[in-house]
Amino acid sequence: MTEQQILDLLSELSLEEKIGEMTQLSPDFLGAAQSVDLTGPMKELNVRPEDLPLVGTTLNAFGAEKLIAMQKKHIAEHPHHIPLIFMADVIHGRRTIFPVPLAMACSFDPALQREANAVAARESAVEGIHVTFSPMADLVRDPRWGRVMESPGEDPLLAARMTAAAVEGYQGEDLKAPDRIASCFKHFGGYGASEGGRDYNTVDISDGTLREFYLSGYKAAADAGAAMAMTSFNTIDRIPATANKKLFRRILRDEWGFEGVAITDFDATGELIAHGLAADGREAARYSLEAGVDIEMMSTHYLNNLKSLVESGEIDMALIDEAVLRILRLKNRLGLFENPFKGADPEHEDEVCLSEGHLEAARRIAVRCAVLLKNENHALPLKKDAKVGLAGPFAESAGVLGGWAFAPSNSSASLLNGLKACGIEPVLAMTEELKPMQRGFFDVSDQTAELSKLADCDVVIAAVGEHSEDTGESASKTILRLTPNQEKMLQKLKEMGKTVVAVVFSGRPLEIKPVLPYCDAVVQAWFLGLQSGAALADILCGKENPSGRLAISFPQTVGQIPVYYNHMNTGRPLVGKPHRFVSCYLDCPNEPLYPFGYGLSYSDFHYSALSVRKGSGDALLDVSVTVENASDIPGRETVQLYIRDLAASVVRPVQELKDFVQVDLAPHEKRTVSFTLTKESLSFWNNEASVFEPGEFEIMAGHSSAEVMRQKVTL
Ligand code: NOJ
Repeated sequence: MTEQQILDLLSELSLEEKIGEMTQLSPDFLGAAQSVDLTGPMKELNVRPEDLPLVGTTLNAFGAEKLIAMQKKHIAEHPHHIPLIFMADVIHGRRTIFPVPLAMACSFDPALQREANAVAARESAVEGIHVTFSPMADLVRDPRWGRVMESPGEDPLLAARMTAAAVEGYQGEDLKAPDRIASCFKHFGGYGASEGGRDYNTVDISDGTLREFYLSGYKAAADAGAAMAMTSFNTIDRIPATANKKLFRRILRDEWGFEGVAITDFDATGELIAHGLAADGREAARYSLEAGVDIEMMSTHYLNNLKSLVESGEIDMALIDEAVLRILRLKNRLGLFENPFKGADPEHEDEVCLSEGHLEAARRIAVRCAVLLKNENHALPLKKDAKVGLAGPFAESAGVLGGWAFAPSNSSASLLNGLKACGIEPVLAMTEELKPMQRGFFDVSDQTAELSKLADCDVVIAAVGEHSEDTGESASKTILRLTPNQEKMLQKLKEMGKTVVAVVFSGRPLEIKPVLPYCDAVVQAWFLGLQSGAALADILCGKENPSGRLAISFPQTVGQIPVYYNHMNTGRPLVGKPHRFVSCYLDCPNEPLYPFGYGLSYSDFHYSALSVRKGSGDALLDVSVTVENASDIPGRETVQLYIRDLAASVVRPVQELKDFVQVDLAPHEKRTVSFTLTKESLSFWNNEASVFEPGEFEIMAGHSSAEVMRQKVTL
């Protein structure tokens, strides 16, 4: 349709039809016959049968046949035959499940995110899905927050690059294409800063922290052309995001020029009442609409109140029209007026999903996301003739897809099957699976008999971690240690004289310091998706060389949280040994256990020749550094560039990642890697605007945030 046709359509719609477009209900409602009794959720939400044909969008309906049938019915019943948009939570793959987003960020490779999401888009589109509620661009510094596993980690630059790539992967060039879907970034904004890591909790951060750190992923998504934005559950400046004009009107729309559709999170308009902002649903509807939120997800305050708010003159019809226009434009961008079944293809659904190519991509990408945290005495890769044992609750578990995987668990994901496919038949012990929320903190079983099965093994792979349901939404925790049985098992294995290789499955950095003395090697596996077992086996056997880097710091202990690399200096920084009256703990170092950017390889990389020169044109500085693979094993290194602005009008972080590049190095190959720093990349938010201030900078390049070469320069 042309823009004029869209405007004409808008002018023909009744107020009820417009409000219907602004309402999102689950497929249970839409599937319901119009004559159903008004009971259950319909009654609770005060939905009348005549509202249903007008509802504009739905969420989390799956399967091409079902979606086509729903769409046909809907178009037939809608007075203007406007098609539905099918939205869904496709977070890390639809049926071919990829690593969880936090793990993807550890690849430090946006191209992989783009590739994974293009596969997810193809598999979603063939089912008839039009929009995914992804990426989650919430920056996170607190691993107690369960949703950290859906995030791109703690760094604004990495978050921006991964998030932009995520949007590009879903959307491609043209939303009308049969294998593309629209992207709804979320949760705008600052949700990752929930106090105490407790989900849905208050967020109270300064404008500078919001803009420089927490907004960066959302901004990148908006700049990458994401079609939609979702509100978050938290407050910002004491105003819930779903009613926050500063966020949605000023920053998103006015400053960033975002023209897409804004949707609430699940019932977030209703939650304005619990927050204590709105006195009732009527006020809640008005606040959300005035903030510029176009669609209300799974609550009906718009549906039940907007008409009377317009009629009483409390809200201007123009606010409704602008929202509906945005929704109609999105339907048009998706090509739904011409083809409401866009992409849905029941005959080819099974052929497109889980294709060989998709599974190959999932395996290749999973390999890149695991992070080798420790590898003493070359415990890994496994020696060819070693007798291998496999123990722990994730040894045989197929439940390692990670949260939001709306796909059946598949035994091919298990570590045991991955190892078998590599020709290893491990001896098994203590493989009983964990149950969700199984804390068992005081319950340590006698493991002697079970572990004696491993007596003949040289090396034991201990598959430990947390249940995947203990991560994600509403899965905040205050204890990040392994369960006592797992800790005890690792200790016993060491006491038995085994080489212990811990493979840690988790959606967040766990507190693994207490078990490090028992582990010769530690692989942080996260939740790597459908090809988890195969990918991990490739790494353990040495077919693949690990190259993942931490997108988030690992705390020494929960009491240190938040601990992140790009913190500000204090007036009493700790230099050298801890002592009284400087900024430090009496009982714990300031540094994390493993810092941002950290990750080992089977190769050794050496850095030399850091050079920082004044550039020309846009390039204020030309930086180069030489990296050498000082080993006999080919490997991939992520060369990281950091800066510190030593004196500025507002205090600056002690380190800021400004660029990174991956290089594949043959044994003993040396490569010089070059970066440029521009005025823009050295600018910061001075509480009013983004500014560049000349002066002294420290330039750092190296292997991780903690292992860098440094040089000062004055600009
Ligand atoms: C609530 C979650 O916060 C959000 O991430 C998700 O997209 C919606 N529910 C829809 O399922």
